[in-house]
Amino acid sequence: MGKPRILSGVQPTGNLHLGNYLGAVRNWVELQSEYENFFCVVDLHAITVPHNPQSLAQDTQAVAALYLACGVDLRYSTIFIQSHVAAHSELAWLLNCFTPLNWLERMIQFKEKALKQGENVSVGLLDYPVLMAADILLYSADKVPVGEDQKQHLELTRDIAIRVNDKFGQPENPVLKVPDPLIQKAGARVMSLADGTKKMSKSDESELSRINLLDSPETIQKKIKKCKTDPVKGLWFDDPERPECHNLLTLYQLLSGQSRESVAAECREMGWGQFKPLLAETAIEALRPIQDKYQKIMADPGYLQSVLREGNHKANQAATATLERVREAAGFLPKT
Ligand code: TYM
Repeated sequence: MGKPRILSGVQPTGNLHLGNYLGAVRNWVELQSEYENFFCVVDLHAITVPHNPQSLAQDTQAVAALYLACGVDLRYSTIFIQSHVAAHSELAWLLNCFTPLNWLERMIQFKEKALKQGENVSVGLLDYPVLMAADILLYSADKVPVGEDQKQHLELTRDIAIRVNDKFGQPENPVLKVPDPLIQKAGARVMSLADGTKKMSKSDESELSRINLLDSPETIQKKIKKCKTDPVKGLWFDDPERPECHNLLTLYQLLSGQSRESVAAECREMGWGQFKPLLAETAIEALRPIQDKYQKIMADPGYLQSVLREGNHKANQAATATLERVREAAGFLPKT
């Protein structure tokens, strides 16, 4: 028996922010030696909302480089680009035909994003979770480490897998592996710096609402200086009246690598004037090694290219095997 498998991914819409890092990528890195990992840059998902064709390729490369810079280790993990493995689109089509429409209409993220876009909602946006299910199921992933906002998509993925198994498999010989989400408690929902009740998000118009992994020290300082706080002195976790306070303490805890208890004790008496520079310094120091490594990787495009070539080869092998299994189970004429 080999190691259990992990699959996860991030969309290449701009570079990564602290929510992506603390909710997802950092956990991938922590877990990676215990699993066989597949990490993809989900460029096909990035075009489900209007996108810029001038920056898609560059953003895709930048996210792949950031995976490496954050510590994804090629001894344990494969990095690849979703659209370079055609099986993702093909399995998504097959799964489309086995997924009831009303399962998709229920998706919270679809409703939220569709509301923002008004009349210009694409079929792709509705279909987003089926493509995500294809991503996961192609690799027979046991676990899928994501942030809290992806929980419903993971439940849908499980439902689709179970449905395909019921329709086309036997109990002792399922077609698809039913995956489990892996959502760490701390960092699972990093909130906006401008509003502690809203998720930190790439699509927020305000740059001040998020810290990006590639932000300069000056930008980080400025964003933290301007972030929303409250007039209370003393800082503590878990107060529903103080969502910003909880969020910023959690960021400090995760970026400094301290325990929650030690942060609670350190900050109990602090005012914002003392805490904000401390948080800014901590964020700058935590991101510095990632930024340094990122610059080195980007200075050697041949290296990144070879990582992706190798990744695409491995991913294609794993994905094609599953796709063939589904085609066969659904009764397609085998390819000659
Ligand atoms: P994306 O690019 O929106 O988010 C990538 C990862 O970051 C997590 N995340 C957050 N975690 C904590 N706090 C936040 N504010 C925050 N914002 C984002 C997300 O939960 C996610 O883990 N649909 C996926 C991309 C995807 C995928 C997959 C993931 C496509 N196929 C297969 C796993 C497996 C997404 O949300 O991307």
